[in-house]
Amino acid sequence: MKLAKVAVVGCGRPSQRWHLPTVAELARRGRIEFVALCDIDAELAERMGREYGVPHYADVEQMLDRHEDIMAVDIVTGDPTHHAIARLVAEHGRHVMVEKPMAVTLRCCDVIVDACRRNGVHFEVAENYFRMPKQRAILKLIAAGVLGDIVRVHFVEPKGKRFRPFDANVEPRGVSRPVSQFTSYSGLFMDMGAHRFSQIRLYARSEPRRIVASLKKYRPDPEFVHEDWGHAMVDFDNGAVGVYETSRLGEETLRYCQIAGTRGRILDHDPFGPQLPLRMLVDGEMRDIPVEFERCRVDGLDVLSRIVVHTDPPLTYENPYADCAIDDWSIGHAEEIMSIANAAVNDEPPEYGLGGRRDVEMAMAAYESSIQGMRPIGIPIDGMTSYEQMLHDDYADRFGKSITA
Ligand SMILES: NC(=O)c1ccc[n+]([C@@H]2O[C@H](COP(=O)([O-])OP(=O)(O)OC[C@H]3O[C@@H](n4cnc5c(N)ncnc54)[C@H](O)[C@@H]3O)[C@@H](O)[C@H]2O)c1
Repeated sequence: MKLAKVAVVGCGRPSQRWHLPTVAELARRGRIEFVALCDIDAELAERMGREYGVPHYADVEQMLDRHEDIMAVDIVTGDPTHHAIARLVAEHGRHVMVEKPMAVTLRCCDVIVDACRRNGVHFEVAENYFRMPKQRAILKLIAAGVLGDIVRVHFVEPKGKRFRPFDANVEPRGVSRPVSQFTSYSGLFMDMGAHRFSQIRLYARSEPRRIVASLKKYRPDPEFVHEDWGHAMVDFDNGAVGVYETSRLGEETLRYCQIAGTRGRILDHDPFGPQLPLRMLVDGEMRDIPVEFERCRVDGLDVLSRIVVHTDPPLTYENPYADCAIDDWSIGHAEEIMSIANAAVNDEPPEYGLGGRRDVEMAMAAYESSIQGMRPIGIPIDGMTSYEQMLHDDYADRFGKSITA
């Protein structure tokens, strides 16, 4: 069997926690080959190279030139760098995967799309949330019609563990310039927002038609120029409604995901926890449906083997990585890595690809709606929003060149 030869670019926190160990474990199990890694921080690259026993580089181009056998590159660098590194990789004829959000604006997303088309390579977005086991089981339940037609999907989540008190002297204001500091973080609606818009869209099983949103900034934190609270409502083609609310303020917000359908609902207060609270109509009455999480041990690690939902007939999710020492969280990463690996080996489209662009589009529509006083913004977005234009202008002011140059 031909194996995809994979390299990783960016060895910071998310790479060390998830990408590097998962790529290494998939390689150890004979599913891919781990060829090389790269980070512009040469000392970090050297340390990670030693830890994983692969050649290390501080320059992407040098790595690609030195290893002509690299087929796919997993890019785990800050959001504003995704499109430029992806374009470079595509121009070297290698398949590309970028972390989420795909890029900081739609025009930057299109730098990736165009470069991959021009060079005949595939691209994937490392959106991991919908690929985690519980989310896969939920998607299977929805596809099987267990919940009936989906009418509403809510995600409400406070961000961060340390709740900050409101500052009585601060007037809340809408998000305006500066919209980005071009560090690794692009705002709440691009950080958790990209994940949640993805899930809301996939659970609704429809495409968004328009979005209304309000994003506010309450705290005058010079290190944090983005929104610290936001609420968006999404109108889908099939009539379903999606709601996303997030906050890093002082209120005690209840965290939940609710997926409501005409025949049942899931109300989950811990979207990452080991439970799937499902209620559905059985003989005309709403009943709790038992769900089992079966587990095994691989190299001393507690690994999920399957989820069994006791509907009639039962519905089962099998972990495709039950023979690997990969925890529940990183199964999402294993799936995205294998998606670009399989695309590289079989010349087949990766699983998500343009879905990652759609998530950025939903976030851009939310920012634009808020800037325009909660005007509904239609999707697909035609042209460039004023939010995106501001972001491009800010980049040019700060770095003296176009963000897409
Ligand atoms: N999917 C998830 O659950 C999840 C979680 C956290 C972060 N992320 C995403 O992962 C990405 C990385 O996160 P981060 O920025 O906080 O990580 P980070 O800042 O800890 O690491 C980024 C690394 O990339 C390196 N780097 C930057 N430019 C480079 C270049 N041109 N060539 C080689 N290396 C380069 C930096 O030196 C740094 O070590 C972001 O897009 C972020 O949104 C995703």
